[in-house]
Amino acid sequence: PERTLVLIKPDGVARQLTGEILRRIEAKGYTITALEQRTVGADLLTEHYAEHEGKPFFEPLLEFMTSGPLVAAIVEGNGVIEGFRSLAGATNPTSAAPGTIRGDLGRDWGTTVQQNLVHGSDSPESAAREIGIWFPQR
Ligand code: GTP
Ligand code: MG
Repeated sequence: PERTLVLIKPDGVARQLTGEILRRIEAKGYTITALEQRTVGADLLTEHYAEHEGKPFFEPLLEFMTSGPLVAAIVEGNGVIEGFRSLAGATNPTSAAPGTIRGDLGRDWGTTVQQNLVHGSDSPESAAREIGIWFPQR
């Protein structure tokens, strides 16, 4: 089946939402096949967010993502790449639809980066690339 790379970002872990977010993934019928909590450095995140290097929110994004533990997961299921992004909702938690992770649980904290709880790969190519970064042995 299709695979995607999901991150529960440091705001999600700090707010004790790990279980709630994983519950939604499992309730949808997807399978979690790798799961690890870790704190990572700027090098790994620069690779992960290579497409955003040079954008105004890049440095704050790295600062936020290295600020504490996050949870990385491989999630499997038919259509999971699109399906998880649908579960996550729009990037900006203020406009994310109710019913989504970001819409139900996220809000604008007035920081320089969107603290929007989760990341999900946006294409099969991104998923393969990101799984290679976070779980090189998988
Ligand atoms: P991810 O699932 O985290 O990749 O979110 P996304 O695909 O919805 O957003 P994108 O890949 O465009 O951006 C990556 C992350 O950078 C976002 O999740 C936000 O945390 C942050 N970000 C993106 N765009 C902006 C922006 O315009 N302003 C701010 N402050 N943060 C942004
Ligand atoms: Mg993205």
